[in-house]
Amino acid sequence: MAFPIHRMRRLRRSEGIRRIVRETKISIDDLISPIFVVEGTNVKREIKSLPGNYHLSVDKLIPEATVLFKKGIPAVILFGIPEKKDEFGSGAYNEDGLVQKAVKVLKANIPDLIVITDLCLCEYTSHGLCGILTNNYIDNDKTLRVIEKVSLSHANAGADIIAPSGMIDGVVKTIRGVLDENSFYNTLILSYSSKYASAFYGPFREAVKSASIKVDKRTHQMDFSNSDEAIREVAIDIEEGADIVMVKPALAYLDIISRLREKFNIPIAAYNVSGEYAMIKSAAEKGLIDEEKAIIEVLTCIKRAGTDLIITYFAKDVAKILKESA
Ligand code: PBG
Repeated sequence: MAFPIHRMRRLRRSEGIRRIVRETKISIDDLISPIFVVEGTNVKREIKSLPGNYHLSVDKLIPEATVLFKKGIPAVILFGIPEKKDEFGSGAYNEDGLVQKAVKVLKANIPDLIVITDLCLCEYTSHGLCGILTNNYIDNDKTLRVIEKVSLSHANAGADIIAPSGMIDGVVKTIRGVLDENSFYNTLILSYSSKYASAFYGPFREAVKSASIKVDKRTHQMDFSNSDEAIREVAIDIEEGADIVMVKPALAYLDIISRLREKFNIPIAAYNVSGEYAMIKSAAEKGLIDEEKAIIEVLTCIKRAGTDLIITYFAKDVAKILKESA
């Protein structure tokens, strides 16, 4: 492989050559767009902490989701932002709750758009933690009993995929059990299997008005110093019945994605989280980086690490960029 027989630069000489040897390409098919549902009617309000994303009331969902679907984005993930929260997160399993209504409307109007529901109690609890507390500690098994009800309400509404994001032990097994008992054999589970306690969720917590903006989630979300633990988390979730596993956040965790890719033969998702979005947005606003180039680079590299699908606030931008460059 020695010079001068081999000149690696030959493979980079022109865009045509680069195109035919390119190993990874980001495609619109890989992307999932988050949607934030709020109460009220006729609400479409830009989210300050996530510019370019909106708080939408249920009646405003169809126009926005239609735009996404027409651009070729195959899937959305729903987050509900209820006005009333309580200690038990009971709003999360209201059959007539925001997420449940949103799923019904979306599936009735755009049946081919894949609807994923994020399943966590933190948007519904007054304390902002992801479960039911006993002595200020998330009571794992009590929380599972609530999650049973939430997952059934999502499936009843017609969700295609349920995505538990609370890092509660046994959650995949619990959800699969409830779904199968109620004949929802074909409802998928996308587990946030290795979700780290991260500083990069700031803009999201602001966007969902979660009481958890400053809450410490380190007793359930993973320690960012660990990598072997992610392998164990994913192995357990696969055993419990997860169809797709996820790593979150994405950018500082590409090594985790790549280890999982080598080890497991299952679709892997990554969540390109709000803080990662905000960093690109703010740097671009200051004129420090080229926004479009940074978006494509970051998403391509997340895919190169080994992901099959990516949840990203940039989905609409990517559709536009890819269309322009086609
Ligand atoms: C939990 C949840 C969070 C995010 C997605 N689902 C917040 C948290 O764990 O505190 C963060 C997503 C992002 O930052 O973009 N419901």
